[in-house]
Amino acid sequence: MTEQTAAAPHTTAPAPKTVAVLGTGKIGEALLSGMIRGGRRPADLLVTARRPERAEELRTRYGVESVTNAEAAKRADTLILTVKPQDMGKLLEELAPHLPADRLVISGAAGIPTSFFEERLAASTPVVRVMTNTPALVDEAMSVISAGSHATAAHLSQAEEIFAGVGKTLRVPESQQDAATALSGSGPAYFYFLVEAMTDAGILLGLPRNQAHDLIVQAAIGAAVMLRDSGEHPVKLREAVTSPAGTTISAIRELENHGVRAALISALEAARNRSRELASGNG
Ligand SMILES: NC(=O)c1ccc[n+]([C@@H]2O[C@H](COP(=O)([O-])OP(=O)(O)OC[C@H]3O[C@@H](n4cnc5c(N)ncnc54)[C@H](OP(=O)(O)O)[C@@H]3O)[C@@H](O)[C@H]2O)c1
Repeated sequence: MTEQTAAAPHTTAPAPKTVAVLGTGKIGEALLSGMIRGGRRPADLLVTARRPERAEELRTRYGVESVTNAEAAKRADTLILTVKPQDMGKLLEELAPHLPADRLVISGAAGIPTSFFEERLAASTPVVRVMTNTPALVDEAMSVISAGSHATAAHLSQAEEIFAGVGKTLRVPESQQDAATALSGSGPAYFYFLVEAMTDAGILLGLPRNQAHDLIVQAAIGAAVMLRDSGEHPVKLREAVTSPAGTTISAIRELENHGVRAALISALEAARNRSRELASGNG
Protein backbone atom coordinates (compact mmCIF):
# COMPACT_ATOMS: atom_id res chain seq x y z
CA MET A 1 0.00 0.00 0.00
CA THR A 2 1.40 3.34 -0.98
CA GLU A 3 1.58 5.93 1.68
CA GLN A 4 -0.32 9.03 0.79
CA THR A 5 1.49 12.24 1.26
CA ALA A 6 -0.86 14.85 2.55
CA ALA A 7 -0.35 18.35 1.28
CA ALA A 8 1.07 20.59 3.95
CA PRO A 9 -1.91 22.27 5.63
CA HIS A 10 -2.06 25.92 4.72
CA THR A 11 -3.19 27.29 8.04
CA THR A 12 -2.00 30.03 10.29
CA ALA A 13 -1.52 29.27 14.01
CA PRO A 14 -4.62 30.20 16.02
CA ALA A 15 -4.30 33.56 17.74
CA PRO A 16 -3.39 33.06 21.40
CA LYS A 17 -6.35 33.41 23.71
CA THR A 18 -6.42 36.34 26.06
CA VAL A 19 -7.00 35.37 29.68
CA ALA A 20 -7.98 37.94 32.30
CA VAL A 21 -7.72 37.49 36.06
CA LEU A 22 -10.32 39.66 37.76
CA GLY A 23 -9.70 40.50 41.41
CA THR A 24 -6.05 39.53 41.48
CA GLY A 25 -5.42 38.85 45.16
CA LYS A 26 -3.61 35.82 46.63
CA ILE A 27 -5.29 33.08 44.60
CA GLY A 28 -5.50 35.24 41.45
CA GLU A 29 -1.79 36.05 41.63
CA ALA A 30 -0.89 32.37 42.17
CA LEU A 31 -2.83 31.50 39.00
CA LEU A 32 -1.28 34.38 37.07
CA SER A 33 2.24 33.33 37.99
CA GLY A 34 1.39 29.67 37.24
CA MET A 35 0.17 30.62 33.75
CA ILE A 36 3.34 32.62 33.03
CA ARG A 37 5.58 29.82 34.28
CA GLY A 38 3.52 27.45 32.11
CA GLY A 39 4.50 29.43 29.03
CA ARG A 40 1.74 31.98 28.52
CA ARG A 41 3.03 35.34 27.35
CA PRO A 42 2.32 38.28 29.66
CA ALA A 43 1.03 40.07 26.52
CA ASP A 44 -1.85 37.54 26.41
CA LEU A 45 -2.82 38.15 30.03
CA LEU A 46 -4.85 40.94 31.63
CA VAL A 47 -5.40 41.63 35.32
CA THR A 48 -7.85 43.75 37.27
CA ALA A 49 -7.44 45.02 40.80
CA ARG A 50 -9.47 47.28 43.07
CA ARG A 51 -6.56 49.41 44.29
CA PRO A 52 -4.21 51.28 41.91
CA GLU A 53 -1.14 50.32 43.96
CA ARG A 54 -2.03 46.64 43.62
CA ALA A 55 -2.47 47.06 39.85
CA GLU A 56 0.96 48.72 39.67
CA GLU A 57 2.52 45.93 41.73
CA LEU A 58 1.17 43.29 39.32
CA ARG A 59 2.29 45.26 36.26
CA THR A 60 5.83 45.58 37.64
CA ARG A 61 6.09 42.03 38.90
CA TYR A 62 4.68 40.19 35.86
CA GLY A 63 4.75 42.65 32.95
CA VAL A 64 0.99 42.23 32.43
CA GLU A 65 -1.50 44.92 31.48
CA SER A 66 -3.89 46.06 34.17
CA VAL A 67 -7.34 47.11 32.96
CA THR A 68 -10.80 47.84 34.33
CA ASN A 69 -13.27 45.01 34.79
CA ALA A 70 -15.36 46.33 31.89
CA GLU A 71 -12.29 46.40 29.63
CA ALA A 72 -11.39 42.82 30.64
CA ALA A 73 -14.96 41.74 29.79
CA LYS A 74 -14.63 43.25 26.31
CA ARG A 75 -11.14 41.96 25.51
CA ALA A 76 -10.59 38.59 27.21
CA ASP A 77 -11.60 35.22 25.78
CA THR A 78 -11.45 33.64 29.23
CA LEU A 79 -12.17 35.44 32.49
CA ILE A 80 -11.06 34.01 35.83
CA LEU A 81 -12.98 35.60 38.69
CA THR A 82 -11.03 35.45 41.96
CA VAL A 83 -12.73 38.07 44.14
CA LYS A 84 -14.07 37.04 47.55
CA PRO A 85 -17.55 35.48 47.40
CA GLN A 86 -19.16 38.59 48.97
CA ASP A 87 -17.71 40.79 46.17
CA MET A 88 -18.90 38.57 43.32
CA GLY A 89 -22.39 40.09 42.87
CA LYS A 90 -20.93 43.57 42.39
CA LEU A 91 -18.25 42.31 40.00
CA LEU A 92 -20.86 40.55 37.85
CA GLU A 93 -22.90 43.79 37.69
CA GLU A 94 -19.82 45.51 36.29
CA LEU A 95 -19.14 42.73 33.78
CA ALA A 96 -22.60 41.81 32.52
CA PRO A 97 -23.23 44.80 30.18
CA HIS A 98 -19.90 44.24 28.38
CA LEU A 99 -19.45 40.46 28.30
CA PRO A 100 -20.29 38.61 25.05
CA ALA A 101 -22.05 35.29 25.70
CA ASP A 102 -19.31 33.19 24.09
CA ARG A 103 -16.64 34.07 26.66
CA LEU A 104 -15.61 31.45 29.19
CA VAL A 105 -16.15 32.52 32.80
CA ILE A 106 -14.20 30.57 35.40
CA SER A 107 -15.11 31.22 39.02
CA GLY A 108 -12.57 30.49 41.73
CA ALA A 109 -14.89 31.69 44.49
CA ALA A 110 -15.71 29.21 47.22
CA GLY A 111 -19.30 28.09 47.49
CA ILE A 112 -20.98 30.10 44.73
CA PRO A 113 -22.99 27.86 42.39
CA THR A 114 -22.71 28.24 38.60
CA SER A 115 -26.42 29.18 38.50
CA PHE A 116 -25.51 32.44 40.34
CA PHE A 117 -23.36 33.46 37.36
CA GLU A 118 -25.74 32.13 34.72
CA GLU A 119 -28.60 34.20 36.18
CA ARG A 120 -26.53 37.40 36.01
CA LEU A 121 -24.74 36.99 32.66
CA ALA A 122 -25.96 36.69 29.07
CA ALA A 123 -27.96 33.52 28.36
CA SER A 124 -25.77 30.57 27.36
CA THR A 125 -22.54 32.00 28.87
CA PRO A 126 -20.29 29.01 29.67
CA VAL A 127 -19.35 28.97 33.36
CA VAL A 128 -16.87 26.67 35.09
CA ARG A 129 -16.67 26.53 38.88
CA VAL A 130 -13.40 25.70 40.59
CA MET A 131 -12.74 25.09 44.27
CA THR A 132 -9.03 25.30 44.84
CA ASN A 133 -7.12 25.50 48.13
CA THR A 134 -4.35 27.61 49.66
CA PRO A 135 -1.48 25.28 48.67
CA ALA A 136 -2.04 26.93 45.24
CA LEU A 137 0.41 29.48 46.66
CA VAL A 138 3.15 26.79 46.60
CA ASP A 139 1.98 24.95 43.44
CA GLU A 140 0.47 22.08 45.46
CA ALA A 141 -3.21 22.95 45.08
CA MET A 142 -6.06 20.54 44.68
CA SER A 143 -8.53 22.23 42.36
CA VAL A 144 -11.94 20.64 41.94
CA ILE A 145 -13.64 21.61 38.69
CA SER A 146 -17.32 21.49 37.65
CA ALA A 147 -19.18 22.58 34.53
CA GLY A 148 -22.16 24.91 34.57
CA SER A 149 -25.10 24.17 32.25
CA HIS A 150 -23.53 25.74 29.15
CA ALA A 151 -19.91 24.66 29.67
CA THR A 152 -18.55 21.93 27.38
CA ALA A 153 -15.71 19.44 27.81
CA ALA A 154 -13.47 21.91 25.95
CA HIS A 155 -14.28 24.61 28.53
CA LEU A 156 -13.45 22.20 31.36
CA SER A 157 -10.14 21.41 29.68
CA GLN A 158 -9.31 25.12 29.46
CA ALA A 159 -10.00 25.56 33.18
CA GLU A 160 -7.97 22.44 33.96
CA GLU A 161 -5.02 23.74 32.00
CA ILE A 162 -5.01 26.98 33.99
CA PHE A 163 -5.37 25.37 37.42
CA ALA A 164 -2.88 22.59 36.57
CA GLY A 165 -0.29 25.38 36.69
CA VAL A 166 -0.64 25.47 40.48
CA GLY A 167 -1.22 21.81 41.36
CA LYS A 168 -3.56 18.92 40.68
CA THR A 169 -7.08 19.07 39.26
CA LEU A 170 -10.11 16.82 39.48
CA ARG A 171 -13.45 17.03 37.64
CA VAL A 172 -16.60 16.37 39.66
CA PRO A 173 -20.30 16.99 39.04
CA GLU A 174 -21.32 20.26 40.67
CA SER A 175 -23.48 18.31 43.16
CA GLN A 176 -20.22 17.02 44.70
CA GLN A 177 -18.61 20.44 45.15
CA ASP A 178 -19.76 20.73 48.78
CA ALA A 179 -18.14 17.40 49.62
CA ALA A 180 -14.96 18.42 47.80
CA THR A 181 -14.94 21.70 49.71
CA ALA A 182 -15.10 19.78 52.98
CA LEU A 183 -12.24 17.47 51.97
CA SER A 184 -9.77 19.55 50.01
CA GLY A 185 -10.92 23.17 50.26
CA SER A 186 -10.82 23.11 54.05
CA GLY A 187 -8.43 20.13 54.10
CA PRO A 188 -5.17 21.98 54.75
CA ALA A 189 -6.67 23.50 57.92
CA TYR A 190 -7.21 20.05 59.44
CA PHE A 191 -3.55 19.20 58.92
CA TYR A 192 -2.43 22.53 60.43
CA PHE A 193 -4.67 21.79 63.40
CA LEU A 194 -3.09 18.34 63.85
CA VAL A 195 0.43 19.77 63.59
CA GLU A 196 -0.45 22.41 66.19
CA ALA A 197 -1.83 19.77 68.58
CA MET A 198 1.11 17.41 68.08
CA THR A 199 3.58 20.25 68.61
CA ASP A 200 1.87 20.88 71.97
CA ALA A 201 2.37 17.20 72.73
CA GLY A 202 6.07 17.57 71.96
CA ILE A 203 6.29 20.44 74.43
CA LEU A 204 4.54 18.33 77.06
CA LEU A 205 7.16 15.65 76.42
CA GLY A 206 9.91 18.20 77.10
CA LEU A 207 11.01 19.31 73.63
CA PRO A 208 11.55 22.97 72.76
CA ARG A 209 8.69 24.31 70.60
CA ASN A 210 10.80 24.87 67.46
CA GLN A 211 12.22 21.34 67.59
CA ALA A 212 8.80 19.82 68.22
CA HIS A 213 7.45 21.82 65.28
CA ASP A 214 10.26 20.72 62.95
CA LEU A 215 9.87 17.05 63.92
CA ILE A 216 6.14 17.05 63.30
CA VAL A 217 6.28 19.08 60.07
CA GLN A 218 8.92 16.76 58.62
CA ALA A 219 6.87 13.71 59.70
CA ALA A 220 3.87 15.27 57.92
CA ILE A 221 5.88 15.95 54.74
CA GLY A 222 7.39 12.45 54.80
CA ALA A 223 3.99 10.84 55.32
CA ALA A 224 2.41 12.98 52.57
CA VAL A 225 5.10 12.04 50.05
CA MET A 226 4.81 8.34 51.02
CA LEU A 227 1.04 8.52 50.57
CA ARG A 228 1.35 10.24 47.20
CA ASP A 229 4.26 8.31 45.73
CA SER A 230 4.16 4.77 47.14
CA GLY A 231 0.73 3.85 45.81
CA GLU A 232 0.12 1.99 49.11
CA HIS A 233 -3.11 2.12 51.07
CA PRO A 234 -2.77 4.28 54.22
CA VAL A 235 -3.56 1.24 56.39
CA LYS A 236 -0.52 -0.57 54.93
CA LEU A 237 1.72 2.43 55.49
CA ARG A 238 0.52 2.75 59.09
CA GLU A 239 0.97 -0.97 59.74
CA ALA A 240 4.57 -0.67 58.60
CA VAL A 241 5.15 1.72 61.52
CA THR A 242 3.06 -0.27 64.03
CA SER A 243 5.12 -3.07 65.56
CA PRO A 244 3.59 -5.57 68.03
CA ALA A 245 3.45 -4.18 71.57
CA GLY A 246 5.30 -1.12 70.30
CA THR A 247 4.99 2.63 70.76
CA THR A 248 2.75 3.41 67.78
CA ILE A 249 -0.02 0.98 68.76
CA SER A 250 -0.08 2.54 72.24
CA ALA A 251 -0.76 5.91 70.62
CA ILE A 252 -3.30 4.49 68.15
CA ARG A 253 -5.26 2.96 71.04
CA GLU A 254 -5.52 6.42 72.62
CA LEU A 255 -6.66 7.95 69.31
CA GLU A 256 -9.36 5.27 69.01
CA ASN A 257 -10.36 5.65 72.70
CA HIS A 258 -10.89 9.36 72.09
CA GLY A 259 -12.96 8.77 68.98
CA VAL A 260 -10.61 10.68 66.68
CA ARG A 261 -11.73 8.73 63.59
CA ALA A 262 -15.41 9.39 64.35
CA ALA A 263 -14.62 13.04 65.14
CA LEU A 264 -12.97 13.49 61.72
CA ILE A 265 -15.92 11.91 59.93
CA SER A 266 -18.34 14.21 61.78
CA ALA A 267 -16.11 17.24 61.23
CA LEU A 268 -16.02 16.78 57.47
CA GLU A 269 -19.76 16.14 57.39
CA ALA A 270 -20.26 19.43 59.28
CA ALA A 271 -18.04 21.23 56.75
CA ARG A 272 -20.03 19.70 53.87
CA ASN A 273 -23.31 20.81 55.48
CA ARG A 274 -22.01 24.34 56.06
CA SER A 275 -20.81 24.55 52.45
CA ARG A 276 -24.31 23.52 51.32
CA GLU A 277 -25.90 26.17 53.55
CA LEU A 278 -23.60 28.91 52.22
CA ALA A 279 -24.14 27.86 48.60
CA SER A 280 -27.93 28.08 49.04
CA GLY A 281 -27.58 31.65 50.34
CA ASN A 282 -28.31 30.80 53.99
CA GLY A 283 -25.00 32.24 55.17
N1 LIG B 1 -7.46 31.82 50.16
C1 LIG B 1 -8.13 30.66 50.28
O1 LIG B 1 -8.07 29.93 51.25
C2 LIG B 1 -9.00 30.21 49.18
C3 LIG B 1 -9.07 28.85 48.91
C4 LIG B 1 -9.91 28.44 47.89
C5 LIG B 1 -10.65 29.37 47.20
N2 LIG B 1 -10.55 30.68 47.50
C6 LIG B 1 -11.37 31.63 46.77
O2 LIG B 1 -10.54 32.45 45.99
C7 LIG B 1 -11.08 33.75 45.95
C8 LIG B 1 -9.98 34.74 46.27
O3 LIG B 1 -9.48 34.51 47.56
P1 LIG B 1 -8.14 35.23 48.00
O4 LIG B 1 -7.73 34.61 49.28
O5 LIG B 1 -7.20 35.28 46.85
O6 LIG B 1 -8.73 36.73 48.30
P2 LIG B 1 -7.99 38.12 48.19
O7 LIG B 1 -6.52 37.96 48.39
O8 LIG B 1 -8.75 39.09 49.04
O9 LIG B 1 -8.21 38.50 46.64
C9 LIG B 1 -9.36 39.08 46.13
C10 LIG B 1 -8.93 40.34 45.40
O10 LIG B 1 -10.02 40.87 44.68
C11 LIG B 1 -9.96 42.27 44.73
N3 LIG B 1 -11.28 42.81 44.38
C12 LIG B 1 -12.43 42.78 45.09
N4 LIG B 1 -13.44 43.33 44.40
C13 LIG B 1 -12.91 43.70 43.21
C14 LIG B 1 -13.45 44.31 42.05
N5 LIG B 1 -14.75 44.66 41.95
N6 LIG B 1 -12.62 44.54 41.01
C15 LIG B 1 -11.32 44.20 41.06
N7 LIG B 1 -10.74 43.61 42.12
C16 LIG B 1 -11.54 43.37 43.19
C17 LIG B 1 -9.51 42.53 46.14
O11 LIG B 1 -9.04 43.85 46.27
P3 LIG B 1 -8.56 44.43 47.71
O12 LIG B 1 -7.11 43.98 47.79
O13 LIG B 1 -8.73 45.89 47.56
O14 LIG B 1 -9.44 43.81 48.73
C18 LIG B 1 -8.46 41.46 46.34
O15 LIG B 1 -7.17 41.90 45.89
C19 LIG B 1 -12.24 33.80 46.94
O16 LIG B 1 -13.46 33.83 46.23
C20 LIG B 1 -12.13 32.54 47.73
O17 LIG B 1 -13.39 32.00 48.02
C21 LIG B 1 -9.70 31.12 48.46
